[in-house]
Amino acid sequence: MPLAELAAAHGTPLYVYSGATIAARYRAVDDAFAGYPHSLHYALKANSTLAIVRLLRSLGSRVDANSGGEIDVALRAGFIPPEIVFTGVAKTDSELAQAIDLGVKTINAESEGELERIDALARRRQTRARVAVRVNPDIDARSHPHISTGLKTNKFGVSIDDARDLCLRMRDRPGLEIVALHAHVGSQIMDLEPLRGAAATVAALARELLAGGLPLEHLDLGGGLGISYDGTPAPTAQAYAEAILAGLGDIDMSIVLEPGRNIVGPAGALVTRVVDVKPQPGGKQFVILDGGMTELIRPMLYNAFHRIEPVVTRDSPEALVDVVGPLCESSDTLGKDRRMPTPAVGDLVAVLDAGAYGAVMASNYNRRTMPAEVLVQDGRPALIKRRQTIDDLLALEL
Ligand SMILES: Cc1ncc(COP(=O)(O)O)c(C=O)c1O
Repeated sequence: MPLAELAAAHGTPLYVYSGATIAARYRAVDDAFAGYPHSLHYALKANSTLAIVRLLRSLGSRVDANSGGEIDVALRAGFIPPEIVFTGVAKTDSELAQAIDLGVKTINAESEGELERIDALARRRQTRARVAVRVNPDIDARSHPHISTGLKTNKFGVSIDDARDLCLRMRDRPGLEIVALHAHVGSQIMDLEPLRGAAATVAALARELLAGGLPLEHLDLGGGLGISYDGTPAPTAQAYAEAILAGLGDIDMSIVLEPGRNIVGPAGALVTRVVDVKPQPGGKQFVILDGGMTELIRPMLYNAFHRIEPVVTRDSPEALVDVVGPLCESSDTLGKDRRMPTPAVGDLVAVLDAGAYGAVMASNYNRRTMPAEVLVQDGRPALIKRRQTIDDLLALEL
């Protein structure tokens, strides 16, 4: 699908997604676990544009929602509550009540305080809430510190040292049914050992709790599998499954997985247009795009690398460039010290592997409007989100 055609039809900056890539990647992970009882709960936080969520549903996925808003999106996409797990470090009482009333598969509780609140809310409703206790296994995901979540210094989950006693203390609460343990140690994980280690830690705790009489149903091992942003080989779905299953050992329990980035990351590109090219002292050039941190904040937030490629290659000499966005921030740099044929004003440039944690993190800084999004399926492009207008933005203001 020529990106230039899509940019001409819908303007830039523009997110373009490949349905075929999403389907292939979903199936790769699902197939890798084919011999083991499992369910994939796609992590909506990675990309929750309705059409993408509906596509994942059509592939057989379930979902991991991280807020009341994501639960609503899941319902609107056609998921039923038992297909939804609800995670999140600061679930409010109203979000918890929503999840209890709906009867989601599990509320993945992060602390003793949250378990207390769930218990109280469920009792008031004369019901029992299905919960998973999120354990913090104190494992270094060896990813970027901002997306590592499994160390005891991170805000997530119940310390592995306290989890056993907490689960046993909470087991007789009339408002709680502890059905699972949960762990998620980080995102963009390229080294499988932390994922194996987390699975082993959670499985060991589950064995103790089962022996103690807690009737756990499943283990939720979160997401985290990384992708190759720079061409370095990433672990395959098969290797991922082998690592997880090795960690689980002989435990006879089904698993839930919450992949996000791995499914949608490589399926999206941010298409932008060159607005200006100007020299820098020292011989480098600035390539200034019409898209930047308001559309894709990963480079600024995590120092993340994304390949940036001209949509149509030109014969111009290769130059050393900084690819920057339009925002009034020096941090608004999508790529530093890149070599590319010097583009001309008006050329299109694609920022690759932007399908996860891209559009969902877009903002309106500088009163910029959110980009349009296109999903290509079976060779046909469909506008799945129209570009926000300044009227949309101002409609909220009184
Ligand atoms: C609890 C939980 N599950 C799943 C995910 C998805 O992670 P990823 O996109 O790395 O697969 C996240 C993201 O950080 C998360 O916090």
